[in-house]
Amino acid sequence: MASAAASLFILTGASRGMGRAMASQLLARGSGVQLLCISRRTDAALEAEAASAGSQVVQWSLDLADPVPAAQQLGQWLAGLDGAAFGAATLINNAGTVGDPAPLAQAALPALSQALRVGLEAPLLLTAAFLHATAGWAGRRQVLNISSGLGRNAMGSQAPYCAAKAGMDHFSRAVALESGGARIVSLAPGVIDTDMQVQLRSADAALFPDRGRFEKLKSEGMLDSPESAARKVLAWLERPDFGDQPVADVRQG
Ligand SMILES: NC(=O)c1ccc[n+]([C@@H]2O[C@H](COP(=O)([O-])OP(=O)(O)OC[C@H]3O[C@@H](n4cnc5c(N)ncnc54)[C@H](OP(=O)(O)O)[C@@H]3O)[C@@H](O)[C@H]2O)c1
Repeated sequence: MASAAASLFILTGASRGMGRAMASQLLARGSGVQLLCISRRTDAALEAEAASAGSQVVQWSLDLADPVPAAQQLGQWLAGLDGAAFGAATLINNAGTVGDPAPLAQAALPALSQALRVGLEAPLLLTAAFLHATAGWAGRRQVLNISSGLGRNAMGSQAPYCAAKAGMDHFSRAVALESGGARIVSLAPGVIDTDMQVQLRSADAALFPDRGRFEKLKSEGMLDSPESAARKVLAWLERPDFGDQPVADVRQG
């Protein structure tokens, strides 16, 4: 049974990279933390971390490329919880994919659709389900969308990723204007040493002229660690002015 000060977190993309680091850091806060993780793969180590810290974790293995059932499942799960038990409820839309970078004319149509469903449609639908199901909850309600500098600065061969993140930024601005009592931020997390960067560095250079930029970031030690990036992103949630600026960047304070 959650205590009155309990905090509920819903985190997508918790199986790897920055999301995995965020999951560990949230669970380490101990009793009072209840975490729901959503990604295709689950991680038994998270259960062990929760058990040793006294926090609680639930993991759903879901493909966010199929976002309608995922959002419906989230809404139903939240509707079954006692909202009065939580001092705060937070949705972190962190899952994303860069796919195989390529000029739009050469990209595979199913891959383009997948990138937009995972990167834009799923966060929007999960946000809708979260806001609807928690509308009557008295505690602090927050949505943190993990965006990217590429949502604000375009890059060739990255059209679906750029579009997903720009869409995420702009739907966050729109939701911030709605009077539902929740706060929302679309936050660029910096450049992080994860599988996503490996994917960019291993892309076909003939299809991705900017590949060298990502190789240089790695070779010059410019990548943030997943743990450090996770700390910065989670610290953003604690800011008293969270949501005053619905589009933000950890590098700009
Ligand atoms: N790394 C960077 O430099 C960087 C820079 C700017 C912004 N970001 C953003 O930061 C966030 C985290 O990035 P990261 O670098 O940690 O990524 P990552 O290491 O590639 O991890 C991506 C996460 O998303 C999940 N995911 C991907 N496709 C999914 C699907 N179809 N259904 C469910 N979950 C899915 C993955 O889990 P499964 O594979 O288990 O499904 C994984 O947990 C992303 O939104 C990314 O766009 C990253």
